[in-house]
Amino acid sequence: MKSFDLIIIGGGPGGYVAAIRAAQFGKSVALVEREPQLGGTCLRVGCIPSKALLESSERFVEAQSGLAAHGVKVERVSLDLAAMLRRKDEIVSGLATGVEALIKKNRITWFLGHGRLDGAMTADGSTRMNRVAVSAVSGKTSKEAELLTAPHVIVATGSRVAPLKGVEPDGDRICTSTEALSLSAVPEHLVVIGAGYIGLELGSVWRRLGAKVTVLEYLPRILPGMDSEVADAALRIFRKQGIEFRLGCEVTSASVQAARGGSKKRGTGDEAGPCVVQIRDQAPISCDRVLLAVGRVPNTDDVGLDSLKIERDSRGRIVVNDHFETAAPGVYAVGDAIRGPMLAHKAEDEGLACAERLYGGYGHVNYDAIPGVAYTHPEIAGVGRTEDELRSAGVAYRRGMSHFRGNARARALADTEGFVKVLADATTDRILGVHIIGPRAGDLIAEAAAAIEFGASAEDLARTCHAHPTLPEVLREAAMAVDGRAIHA
Ligand code: NAI
Repeated sequence: MKSFDLIIIGGGPGGYVAAIRAAQFGKSVALVEREPQLGGTCLRVGCIPSKALLESSERFVEAQSGLAAHGVKVERVSLDLAAMLRRKDEIVSGLATGVEALIKKNRITWFLGHGRLDGAMTADGSTRMNRVAVSAVSGKTSKEAELLTAPHVIVATGSRVAPLKGVEPDGDRICTSTEALSLSAVPEHLVVIGAGYIGLELGSVWRRLGAKVTVLEYLPRILPGMDSEVADAALRIFRKQGIEFRLGCEVTSASVQAARGGSKKRGTGDEAGPCVVQIRDQAPISCDRVLLAVGRVPNTDDVGLDSLKIERDSRGRIVVNDHFETAAPGVYAVGDAIRGPMLAHKAEDEGLACAERLYGGYGHVNYDAIPGVAYTHPEIAGVGRTEDELRSAGVAYRRGMSHFRGNARARALADTEGFVKVLADATTDRILGVHIIGPRAGDLIAEAAAAIEFGASAEDLARTCHAHPTLPEVLREAAMAVDGRAIHA
């Protein structure tokens, strides 16, 4: 049995950041991760590889049709998919090695295996020590099981792809976001189930690389949770890019038809049978690949929560209070495993706050200032409350809009689609939300998040000098427009 000050289960952005912060306070930390690479879903099979492919596929499109406007002639553009995938894998392994180096540098002990809470015991007659059992994961870890103890444990076990009844991912023809990051050939026709972040980002990648892409969405809109005016604008732009959308469309099943030789797999020498997607009250769709992207569910069912009587809510999330404390003394939870948006940076902030509260006495996450970004083209980003939320809550607000087409830098970039919308309290002028669709929206939203964090008014943003010519000037103009004084409107 090995003892530490803190044990963290899960080496994703929530867990490894909490581990480093605790180590900075001089604590001995054990980090339990069952994958041979640190960084979690985000780094291994999520945000990072998808951003690498989004960047590369965007360059491909630009080389094909975007450079002529700049007077740059490119002939015979062709795709080397294997090189594109290799580059993505190198980015992932480089960053994972970097995280591992940080863990070593901070003298954190990494246990490679599956961690489970395993009850508590009393040490020295009074100190409560929570136990974590680390067991081997077949094919990944060779070591025997180990038992660790610490007064404090943080559960940061993340989430996994949500299942959909009737759609059984087979790791090949019916895939999840993980396999869709590594398809060895461009599909002829990819059907994406779900028009959320994952569906739109990965749908964009394969559309750009030449696939016909059909997105099937249950709701009458795309990007649930984002500002609906921005989502409507995005839908129009994505349709122009050639992505087909069917909204209000409930997928009831997807299956692979057996090929003539009886095989459902690609590359077996047999002629592959089609995938057939069944939709309620509509004709089925035949395609060659299906991507299931209907959300994620927390990884909380195999963490030993019962051993400490820790509760989960109806969606399987660990119940915590405002300080990330579970019902068991000394056991905390952060990230996708608890309530709130399933975003890497939210997990990271919670990991930091949890460690800081434990060892520094104070830690805080402002849930009103967590940005969300879809890295499509154009990018879509939002922070704070949407106009839909303000309307339904009956909050009196004023709004200012400014379009990128009036911005000099956007014109120089030849990237002028989209707008910024600033929503401010009608009485106090305090910024309540900022929503952007347009070039570099994911970077621009940082200024808006900082403004909300500092409790800024729209006038504060409007009076802040912004360098000219830059894209953030559109944000400033939108802030000026709140008070009807935009200059370039
Ligand atoms: P999501 O919850 O964003 O979207 C899933 C969509 O599937 C919803 O619009 C839902 O209405 C639809 N759907 C559900 N059942 C359906 C059915 N039977 N037929 C048709 N449509 C159906 O989930 P997504 O895109 O899988 O992302 C999962 C999580 O990962 C999200 O919480 C997201 O925040 C996070 N993520 C964040 C990214 C980013 O920050 N850029 C990128 C990728 C994921």
